Amino acid sequence: MSLSVLGTGRRMPALEITNDDMASVVETSDEWISARTGIRGRRFITNEDLTALAAGAGRLALEDAGLDASEIDLIICSTIQGDYITPSLANLVQRDLGASCPAFDINAACCGFLYGLDAAHAYIGAGKAARVLLISAEHMSKFLDWTDRSTCVLFGDGAAAAVLGGGSGLRYITVDSNGQTESLRIPAHKPGIPFARSGGEEREKSVVYMNGQSVFKFAVSTCTDGIRRALDTLKLTAGDIAHYILHQANGRIIDAVRRALDLPEEKFPTNIRRTANMSSVTIPCLLDELNRAGRLKRGERLVLSAFGAGLTAGTCVLEWQKEAVSYG
Ligand code: ACO
Repeated sequence: MSLSVLGTGRRMPALEITNDDMASVVETSDEWISARTGIRGRRFITNEDLTALAAGAGRLALEDAGLDASEIDLIICSTIQGDYITPSLANLVQRDLGASCPAFDINAACCGFLYGLDAAHAYIGAGKAARVLLISAEHMSKFLDWTDRSTCVLFGDGAAAAVLGGGSGLRYITVDSNGQTESLRIPAHKPGIPFARSGGEEREKSVVYMNGQSVFKFAVSTCTDGIRRALDTLKLTAGDIAHYILHQANGRIIDAVRRALDLPEEKFPTNIRRTANMSSVTIPCLLDELNRAGRLKRGERLVLSAFGAGLTAGTCVLEWQKEAVSYG
């Protein structure tokens, strides 16, 4: 294992939407959303574009690492979809940051940051890159069905980043997928062509379709099992981990994993109250919040664990090797 986090950053859209605001769009309430999910608010993209948020998060992470964009060897963006189908979001971020390295996107839904870490680790380990800028950026609001209260209240938009370099911080990482679309999917938009025969099949809209209870069960079991396997492999106990940074999809999922591992609440920081589920952005966003609040101490072990559409899953154990910085 040969990777460490050198810097972090995040950029959120300006527009804040409360649960009461959501109740003016669908039949719901602050009581229902906060009790079932822990979410009180989220940010939605309106006038910004995702590229600007992603580049902004990347710039802050570079500043935190004390590096210039010219010192980056690879940019990876994790996103379900950038502002363009092509060029990739990473290509546009590379242009905006003034970097001159290769750049590509990955889509592993909510596990995108973990898949990105795994890819960055492979590049760094193979000697193909010394420093990688990994940015997760998601525009979930463009995939929401604003008539479906069971999904549209759950998501938010944002971007967060980490600069990765060589080092011995990464102790364990595993990512999985099982190619199952029933529980969670966003179908691609399929326009007709002039040659198609009339009366074609009913097409699904390009919005989030989710069986919430099935994802809930998958999330709790996959995170709990993934974390136990990581700890067993490293011969660590659950108490040896300072912070469990889990994908922020639902506060009750985080709580169920915490109770299964028999750990206190303070080991499971959350920000879902303010951000809702920003897919692959939730983990790097929380990492940046903790870093900038001075809550990560050199030598502490962190667990990052995510689940999402795919169905994908991923868990890693990271030792924090960055010196605490005063952010003023
Ligand atoms: N407001 C008010 N009532 C609602 C709302 C709402 N926003 N949404 C659903 N309800 C109602 C339902 O209609 C249902 O009513 P009924 O009993 O009269 O039929 C009732 O609330 C219960 O609905 P459930 O779906 O059973 O509620 P549940 O407790 O399972 O919570 C939730 C739903 C929050 C979606 C939960 O299942 C969940 O969080 N699942 C996991 C979601 C998740 O993690 N997604 C990850 C996505 S990751 C990615 O890759 C995009």
